[in-house]
Amino acid sequence: MKLAIIGCGGFIGSHLLDRLLRDESVYITGWDPEVRKIAQHLNNPRLVLHRTTINKPEVYDVLCQTIDWADTVINLAAICNPAEYNTNPLGVIHANFIDVYKLVELCTEQGKWLISFSTSEVYGRTLSSYLPDNCYEDPELYELSEDESPLIMGPVSNQRWSYACAKQLLERFIYASHHERGLPFTIVRPFNFFGPRMDYIPGRDGEGVPRVLACFMRALMDGLPLQLVDGGSQRRTIVSIHDAMDALLLMLAKPSQAQNQFFNIGNRNNEVTIAELAELMRACYAEITGDPRYHEHPVEVVSSDAFYGKGYEDCDRRMPRLDRAGELLGWKPQIPLRQILLETMAHYHYQYAASIEGEPGQKNQPSLAGASFPTC
Ligand code: NAD
Ligand code: UGA
Repeated sequence: MKLAIIGCGGFIGSHLLDRLLRDESVYITGWDPEVRKIAQHLNNPRLVLHRTTINKPEVYDVLCQTIDWADTVINLAAICNPAEYNTNPLGVIHANFIDVYKLVELCTEQGKWLISFSTSEVYGRTLSSYLPDNCYEDPELYELSEDESPLIMGPVSNQRWSYACAKQLLERFIYASHHERGLPFTIVRPFNFFGPRMDYIPGRDGEGVPRVLACFMRALMDGLPLQLVDGGSQRRTIVSIHDAMDALLLMLAKPSQAQNQFFNIGNRNNEVTIAELAELMRACYAEITGDPRYHEHPVEVVSSDAFYGKGYEDCDRRMPRLDRAGELLGWKPQIPLRQILLETMAHYHYQYAASIEGEPGQKNQPSLAGASFPTC
């Protein structure tokens, strides 16, 4: 199998390489300027890496050769950090649509199967969220189904939706290219994948505001309060990166089932409010460090204006319907949220232990009691 993977150096790409390169029959050409998360694979003779973005005019010919060579193309390239959606909307629209539009054209021209990572954010807010008190009595008004649910976003001035709109336009462009020009495609809509190597920890290996997992991890490690944006009543369903990679491997193994489909990939059993997530992460960190004081680690409420700046608006709830991935791929997520958090948080703790400064906490080597490490 010959795969081109664009954005292979990020969180999902790094796990995908871990899984795919175990198979001796897999050859990969990857594109990404970032390689820190895939250092373990850089000497693999079955990986050719272009350490650049795909959107520079001078690399176009090489990109054409990559697409020509590959059987299948996987697109992971993005800016997918909510803190950038309203503060760097042009960058977000470029990264998620304009910079990858030529990739879709090339796959169409060469008839190559394009598996493109979209997002649960294309659904926007639920219908329920527009009813008084976020009325979640009727699942038809909040469950998200690939072919039935409307995609509901707020006003243009709320630039939070720049990401969701760019992703939605890419989906529509891919779908139209399939219908009018025969492009074989698969759209994957991830619902909050969690796992080791997600994002960065501000002040250690990155700057800015990462996604919620890394924000809470940083706060726990540095003795800062966990911040609940607008009170933390928003809900997310969280799926393990390992379950998610199982789904992707099934897609690659079953092209006739996976092609020309949209798939929600999430875990309905792992739904929490963000306030509950904070509570659970405090408990998991107390277990990982062996320090019960983390149960009482401070939590504070902040407004979204203060946290993200003007133009932020939240997705209230993301409950995926997963029937399609079940029926066509035989996929069902397995890993419960507590296990996902213990594994992921232990990884962060171990990786950053030397620089832990906060209280309560332990500045010496971490105790990893109760935590399990990934097999990859
Ligand atoms: P990530 O930010 O960790 O990785 C994205 C990678 O793409 C980065 O390494 C970046 O350097 C690279 N990249 C960006 N533009 C590029 C370009 N033009 N050419 C080559 N490389 C480029 O993100 P991730 O969490 O691994 O997400 C991967 C994909 O899945 C994205 O499309 C994202 O929108 C989507 N997604 C992820 C999640 C999740 O829970 N992680 C949820 C929904 C959607
Ligand atoms: C994310 C990102 O948009 C994308 O990575 C991805 O496409 C999408 O999820 C998805 O899974 O499809 P979101 O879940 O809103 O979106 O981003 P997070 O940063 O993980 O935030 C989750 C929730 O926690 C939000 O309600 C946010 O306001 C809140 N939050 C975040 C806090 O309360 N405190 C924090 O410190 C950080």
